[in-house]
Amino acid sequence: MTQRRIVITEFMDAGAVQSLRARFEVRYEPTLVDDSAALHAAVAGADAVVVRNRTQVNAALLAAAPRLRVVGRLGVGLDNIDLERCKARNVTVIPATGANAQAVAEYVVGTAMLLLRGAYRATDEVAAGRWPRTRLSEGREIRGKCLGLIGFGGIGQLTATLAQAVGMRVAGYDPAFDAGAAVWAAQGVEPLALDAVLACADVVSLHVPLVDSTRNLIDAARLARMKRDAVLINTSRGGIVDEAALARALVAGELAGAALDVFAHEPLVAGSALAGTPNLLLTPHVAGVTAESNERVSSLIAQRVAEALEAPRR
Ligand SMILES: NC(=O)c1ccc[n+]([C@@H]2O[C@H](COP(=O)([O-])OP(=O)(O)OC[C@H]3O[C@@H](n4cnc5c(N)ncnc54)[C@H](O)[C@@H]3O)[C@@H](O)[C@H]2O)c1
Repeated sequence: MTQRRIVITEFMDAGAVQSLRARFEVRYEPTLVDDSAALHAAVAGADAVVVRNRTQVNAALLAAAPRLRVVGRLGVGLDNIDLERCKARNVTVIPATGANAQAVAEYVVGTAMLLLRGAYRATDEVAAGRWPRTRLSEGREIRGKCLGLIGFGGIGQLTATLAQAVGMRVAGYDPAFDAGAAVWAAQGVEPLALDAVLACADVVSLHVPLVDSTRNLIDAARLARMKRDAVLINTSRGGIVDEAALARALVAGELAGAALDVFAHEPLVAGSALAGTPNLLLTPHVAGVTAESNERVSSLIAQRVAEALEAPRR
C-alpha cells in the first residue's frame, strides 16, 4: 500500500508533527496557508490536511485534492471549512473539541479583570515618574459582578465555572437551551433572553459560532442595550460584533471597555475603524492558543487524523 500523505498548512506542536511523521508521509509547512497556489499544489496528493482557522477548505481546495479523506482542524470553529462539500465528498472533518476551552475561558476572566480594574493603562506615565493614582483609583473588582454569556456551549459553560470561582454571578442566553433545560441549573447560571442578558451584565462575553443568525448579532442597537459601565469581550468569531459600531460606542463613552480577539477580516487592515479607539484591547486571535492548549489540540488532532486514515474506508 502506498504511504498516506498528510499536509499541515498552519502551525502545529512539534511533538504531534513528529508522531505523524512516524506513521505517514508528512509535509509540514506552517506558512503554506499564505500562498494559495503552493497550497493547492501541495494538497494534490494528500489523503489528509491539517489546518487552523486561516486555511480555507473550500471548493477550490477540495477540487485540488482529489484523494482527500480527512480534514483535521487545530481548533473548534468550522467556518473556514465547507462542511456541505466535505460531506458530499465523504471527507471526514475532525475538530479539536474541548482542547482549547480552558485557554479561552482563562482569557475571558483575566481580560474581564483587566478591563474592569483599568489600572494597567499608565505604564509609560509611571515609568516617566508621573503618579496618576487618583485617576486610577476608581477600578472595579470582579467579585459580585454579573457575567452575561451569549452562547452556552463548551466554552461558555467552562467560562461560567471559572467566573463563579472568582465570585461572579452568571446569566446566559443560548437558543439551544430553553429556560427549563437542566444545564442552567447544573451550572448555577440564570437563563435570560438575549436583550435581558445585555441589559443586566457588567461583562458580556460572546461564545457563539459564526452562522447567518449570529452575523452582526452585536450591532449598534444591541450595544446600546448594554450598561454604560459594562465591558464586552469577543473571543468567538469576527463578524458577530459590528466593529465600527463598537468603536463609536467606546469613543462616545457609551461602553466602559472592550476586548476583541477575533475580527471580520484577519489580520486587521491598517486604518481600520478600531484604530485609536479608547478602552479597547486587541489580540491577534490567540484566546484559544497557549503553550498547553497547542500541545493538547495538536496531539488530539494527530491521534484522531491517524485513526481516521488507518480506519477502513466507509
Ligand atoms: N478565539 C479563539 O482562539 C477561539 C478558540 C476556540 C473557540 N473559538 C470560538 O468560540 C466559539 C464557541 O466555541 P464552543 O466550542 O463553545 O462552541 P459550541 O458549539 O460548544 O457552543 C456554541 C453555542 O452557541 C450557541 N448559539 C448558536 N447560535 C446562537 C445565538 N444566536 N445566540 C446565542 N447562542 C447561540 C449554540 O447553541 C451552542 O450551544 C466558536 O465561534 C469558536 O469558533 C475561538
